[in-house]
Amino acid sequence: MNFSDTEIVLGVMSRYGYNETTDLRDSDVILLNTCSIRDNAERKIYSRLDELKFEKRRNPNLIIGILGCMAERLRKDLLEEKKMVDIIVGPDEYRKVPELIDNLAETGEKGIAVKLSRVETYDDITPLRRDGVSAWLSVMRGCDKFCTFCVVPFTRGRERSRSLAGVVNEAVQLAEQGVKDIWLLGQNVNSYNHDGKDFADLLHTVASELPQVRIRYTTSHPYDLSMKLLETMASHDNICKYIHLPLQSGSDRILKLMNRLYTVKQYMEVMKTARSMMPDIGLSTDIISCFPGETEDDHKMTLDAIREVRYDGAYTFLYSPRENTKAFSMDWSFSEEVRKRRLDEIISLQREISFDINKSLIGKLKTILVESRSKKSDDQFIGRTDCNKSVIIPGSFVSDSSRHKVSAGDIVDAEIRKANSATLFGDIRSVRDSITN
Ligand code: 5AD
Ligand code: SF4
Repeated sequence: MNFSDTEIVLGVMSRYGYNETTDLRDSDVILLNTCSIRDNAERKIYSRLDELKFEKRRNPNLIIGILGCMAERLRKDLLEEKKMVDIIVGPDEYRKVPELIDNLAETGEKGIAVKLSRVETYDDITPLRRDGVSAWLSVMRGCDKFCTFCVVPFTRGRERSRSLAGVVNEAVQLAEQGVKDIWLLGQNVNSYNHDGKDFADLLHTVASELPQVRIRYTTSHPYDLSMKLLETMASHDNICKYIHLPLQSGSDRILKLMNRLYTVKQYMEVMKTARSMMPDIGLSTDIISCFPGETEDDHKMTLDAIREVRYDGAYTFLYSPRENTKAFSMDWSFSEEVRKRRLDEIISLQREISFDINKSLIGKLKTILVESRSKKSDDQFIGRTDCNKSVIIPGSFVSDSSRHKVSAGDIVDAEIRKANSATLFGDIRSVRDSITN
């Protein structure tokens, strides 16, 4: 969401004639787009601000802005304690960034805009994207779920959706620009609702309009991942068979304390149905370890749930207390030893499962959309399978005794030759014209 928001801000700024620079010393304005989801995300911004102090000393006219969730949560602290911050803009006020900069230049007044909106979706703003094969497309904003650990409903406000036509138009434009892979984004995409159209309707329309583009989405909430959505996924070849479905905990007692609105059994039913409809589906999740009151038994239930689903991957976090949330006042005391051990156990179990699943793909042929040159080696490329696995492939291959060079945007069939828990390595067998058969 933050990457996507940054592209929206770049879109707003470019309308006013601002250009992005890659050289820090060349910039007149530096905007940090921030996240408040966990304490370490906020600490990163504070240390980045410390680094920027030197830049500000070197160039006193430099304007420094804080955007996003931290602006919402910590505006007072940022204004009073971090004197170098000139503008503070929350997630629903990005349109104001250029005006606030102008005003600062004219009057010397610091700018602050942190109102949350019930309607802002930036539907008419064209995000400024870097050229690429993949693009994010934000379809809804905010969240009404109020999980007791989560700061998002406070920093990003209430749920609201863009118009279906607005999303489809932007998707079509992206395809015309050569984008081959679109991620529909929302804090909670299942809650998409515009003029009676739900997320399954939106997904169906985008996928039907653009049959040659891969369509993915994130993130879903298990409580309202509908049968209609699964059927829509199963019935379109270009909708990627991949679901990221945060479980958070394998204990019903903890799920209740988290206000997650489902039981482990209900969650497993959704996963089972998804797998029965789409056998090769890729599944991933988010897990929070050491939520207030989590016992050793609760932790073991989380490990059991991970074993039961056998996820392709998981993002695992230690619980981070967030002010204003309900869980903030719950008793929370774990020794460093327990925190480290529980997190390690989850991570190593998941790594083992990911490795097993990836190893089982050796020898199989997978269709890969090539995304970019590999960061590690110039003569290799990295691409993704439809179920969201990263695959490293060579930069060229020989067929019919001629050598073909790979480039970003190619669609190739590759035989998986090697695997570790995070990445597959493949040999290209053929180049395809189309993502679907
Ligand atoms: N502490 C730790 N992890 C959190 N998440 C959200 N809030 C917190 C918190 N306070 C995690 C959840 C969510 C993901 C985006 O971040 O797992 O799904
Ligand atoms: Fe946060 Fe829960 Fe909303 Fe996800 S569903 S953004 S975890 S409140």
